[in-house]
Amino acid sequence: MSALSQAWSRAERRLDRWFPAGTNPLVNLGAIACLLFAILLLSGIYLFVVFDTSVSGAWNSIDTLSRQQPVPGGWLRSLHRYAADAFALVTLLHLVREWVLGRYTRFRRVTWLTGVPLLLFMYVSGIGGFWLNWDRLGQYSAIASAELFDALPLLTGSMARNFLGVDSVSDRFFSLLIFVHLGVPLLLLFGLWFHLQRITRPAVWPTRALSVGMLAMLGLLAALWPVMSQAPADLATVPSAVPLDWILLHLHPLAELLSPAIVWALIGGVLLLLLALPLRREQALPVAVVDADNCNGCRRCVADCPYAAITLEAHPNGKPGRQIAVVAAERCASCGICAGSCPSATPFRSARELVTGIDMPQQPIGALREQLELALAGAGQGRVVVFGCDHGADLRQIDDQRVAQFSLLCIGLLPPSFVEYALRNGASGVVVVGCAQGGCAFRLGERWTAERLAGTREPQLRASVPRERLRMIFAGPGQEWRVAVAVEELRGVRAT
Ligand code: HEM
Ligand code: SF4
Ligand code: SF4
Repeated sequence: MSALSQAWSRAERRLDRWFPAGTNPLVNLGAIACLLFAILLLSGIYLFVVFDTSVSGAWNSIDTLSRQQPVPGGWLRSLHRYAADAFALVTLLHLVREWVLGRYTRFRRVTWLTGVPLLLFMYVSGIGGFWLNWDRLGQYSAIASAELFDALPLLTGSMARNFLGVDSVSDRFFSLLIFVHLGVPLLLLFGLWFHLQRITRPAVWPTRALSVGMLAMLGLLAALWPVMSQAPADLATVPSAVPLDWILLHLHPLAELLSPAIVWALIGGVLLLLLALPLRREQALPVAVVDADNCNGCRRCVADCPYAAITLEAHPNGKPGRQIAVVAAERCASCGICAGSCPSATPFRSARELVTGIDMPQQPIGALREQLELALAGAGQGRVVVFGCDHGADLRQIDDQRVAQFSLLCIGLLPPSFVEYALRNGASGVVVVGCAQGGCAFRLGERWTAERLAGTREPQLRASVPRERLRMIFAGPGQEWRVAVAVEELRGVRAT
């Protein structure tokens, strides 16, 4: 983990203290962006219905809305603007988070690469929205954008000249602008579908509490500081010193300050960098391995794999209707969540060598059973067993002979029957440590584990297992104290 990603993770854990479980905005940026996009689409539909699509009527239709119909018209207009700003900020933050945490190579390569065009669509539709108002700001943005395009060697005529005469902007040209402002978000929606293709159960909606909080914040902002149009566009004069929306329109002053050519070089450079990042060569990760004799095609691993890496195909044993899991190596995150979901991965099986339907070569379930038996043998009796994960609280910090700790690839690798097995083999209690809720490095491991232990997801922990001797906690890096507290609690249970 680089220093930057450690600092980011620390910031996320700090925010965890202020937000109820699952509502930390920093770990829900993709979902918040989707919510904001939905707000933009819905408020945009209303604005489009009342919008006059002619050059002469556009400004008036929006200005009248703000002045004469503050609710819902003016409020929805303001909500639309603030949601657009928030969408841009949240999407940029989402990109920065994935970059800082190094989530752009290997199995995430396609998701990253399909995210890059979304940035372009976001800027184009955002900037185009200002033109539709056709006030001084819209005029300034339209001219500045045209000047930017004039710097490209692709065009023969001057685009900026289209905005020089009083009658030079026609209704037809205006219809084109509307088409851009409506068509590009549709492209964005289509691109979003591609973006999420390699992700199982993408979190496209924030939790209810987070959604209500976001809506309340934007709604309040729109009510307290309604957005008003500037004076109508006047092509007889050149707008200067217009108050800007810096979040979406910062390219214009940058082009004035540096030059359009430099701004194009910057845009091209950033895009190239973003597209080149995932090409970085990385050491290949071990891929989940399926054992034909132990796979009955039950589909549980297909349902639980967070990166849609598993499909079912006809079983090589040729029996009619029998299927077998098949792993697509380039999609596999090497998380082991599939191993934790397989019904054959139970330590109670009598086979001396435990071979499971699907397993991780670097951390096989059979080896975990052996290590657990060893830790609880002889003087190990009565120890508290802690199962954690390489990406969460650092279990190496536990320096206590009375604790046996196992750091897994992901907590989702743990078949729940291991809890019962540990207790039956002499453990005084078991602590299962998942990363912060919603903060699993592989997206779903902590959630599936909690559901399996609660008995709401297969494979379930048997109801007969004494729950007072089990703690499921969520602790990321830096939250090792939570593990210590849970261990102490279980010692107390043992003593009473
Ligand atoms: C319109 C803007 C965008 C929206 C609405 C969006 C939305 C989302 C959503 C909902 C997820 C799934 C989150 C989850 O279930 O864990 C996601 C994942 C992801 N996004 Fe975006 N995204 C956008 C732009 C971008 C951009 C610009 C990039 C980077 C170039 C990017 C990179 C990623 C990556 C790498 C993941 C995978 C995270 C993981 O596997 O843990 N996204 N995005
Ligand atoms: S290791 Fe993870 S990503 Fe790979 S197949 Fe198993 S669940 Fe899917
Ligand atoms: S969970 Fe196990 S048995 Fe079921 S399909 Fe996957 S590998 Fe086969």
